[in-house]
Amino acid sequence: MARPTRVLINQQALRDNYAIAQGASAAHCMPMVKANAYGHGAEIVCNALNLAPAFGVASIEEALELRSFGIDKPILLLEGTFSVDEISVAADNQLWLMVENNQQLKHLLQASLLQPVRVWLGLDTGMHRLGFQADEVNAAYCALAASDNVHNHMVLASHFASADHLDDPKTYQQMALYDSVYADIAVADGAILQQSLANSAAILGWPGAQRDWQRPGYMLYGNSPFVDQYKDHRLQPVMTFTSAVTSLRSIAAGESVGYAGTWTAARTSRIATLTVGYADGYPRHAPNGTPVLINGRRCPLVGRVSMDMISVDVSDISEVNIGDPSILWGQNLSVNEIAAHCATNGYQLLSGISARVPRVAEN
Ligand SMILES: Cc1ncc(COP(=O)(O)O)c(C=O)c1O
Repeated sequence: MARPTRVLINQQALRDNYAIAQGASAAHCMPMVKANAYGHGAEIVCNALNLAPAFGVASIEEALELRSFGIDKPILLLEGTFSVDEISVAADNQLWLMVENNQQLKHLLQASLLQPVRVWLGLDTGMHRLGFQADEVNAAYCALAASDNVHNHMVLASHFASADHLDDPKTYQQMALYDSVYADIAVADGAILQQSLANSAAILGWPGAQRDWQRPGYMLYGNSPFVDQYKDHRLQPVMTFTSAVTSLRSIAAGESVGYAGTWTAARTSRIATLTVGYADGYPRHAPNGTPVLINGRRCPLVGRVSMDMISVDVSDISEVNIGDPSILWGQNLSVNEIAAHCATNGYQLLSGISARVPRVAEN
């Protein structure tokens, strides 16, 4: 006996998608598992991808949570540290640090560490969110290379703003700037400076962006990262967000459904209630007509999404019963399609699955 709302995590699909990311080049492939592995459950995802050389997260709290699950691979803090006290914790826990501004640089140089940390040096090539400017990065590199706190094996990293738009020249411009900055860095004797550029869209769509380290996120979870594509047929969705019909009724034409009566039946209609709502991560702004699969058939959402429930018009399918399974997104219903209905992206929907929804590992 349990509320039937859950996300099923297809671990084999995850491994297959990872193999595709890895197969795109000879590079090291670091799964992005920030935001609870894009909502999938970081523990499940890291265990399924235990062949990966390292993982990427957004904060030290996320990294230490992985350590508490027994994940012992290196973990990169993609935004680096937010305060000076994090540096020794990072060093003690085998975390890798992005260093992307002068404050982080100063804190790292001033720290007294028992062992050096591995550093990824962030370069701003046009995203203008994180990273040293092109004319600052050589000085930052030299300061890091001269410090006993820093391992002599570093990575120069940058991030694309528009790799999901294959016709946008900005990605070429970012690569060109990156290449010229990299070429100008005077790598210290005996040191190594590797390269990292590619997110999912770049791995799948920009062959020139393949460098020493790939950083796939969204594609691992089985969804196309390209703006104009619901599905990439090379990838399999990992998450299936499921619920079940928990109540059924017929309503007369002219009756409305849900808070504020935002949908009115044009005919006698059969309405199924599903026990899933915005407190689970189903988007509150999903409009009438957003598809839901019930018994594998597409049916339209009707009325406002409530905190714990939604209503679906099942008039056009026969034989619906209480307890019948439903899919909000996942297998046979792309999260990108639902996101398009909701004027958002699949990243937000996946990472918005709330803590009360059990993640159930399969395969
Ligand atoms: C620095 C960095 N690298 C890689 C990624 C992965 O991007 P995607 O999920 O599009 O593959 C992200 C995600 O936001 C990121 O911030």
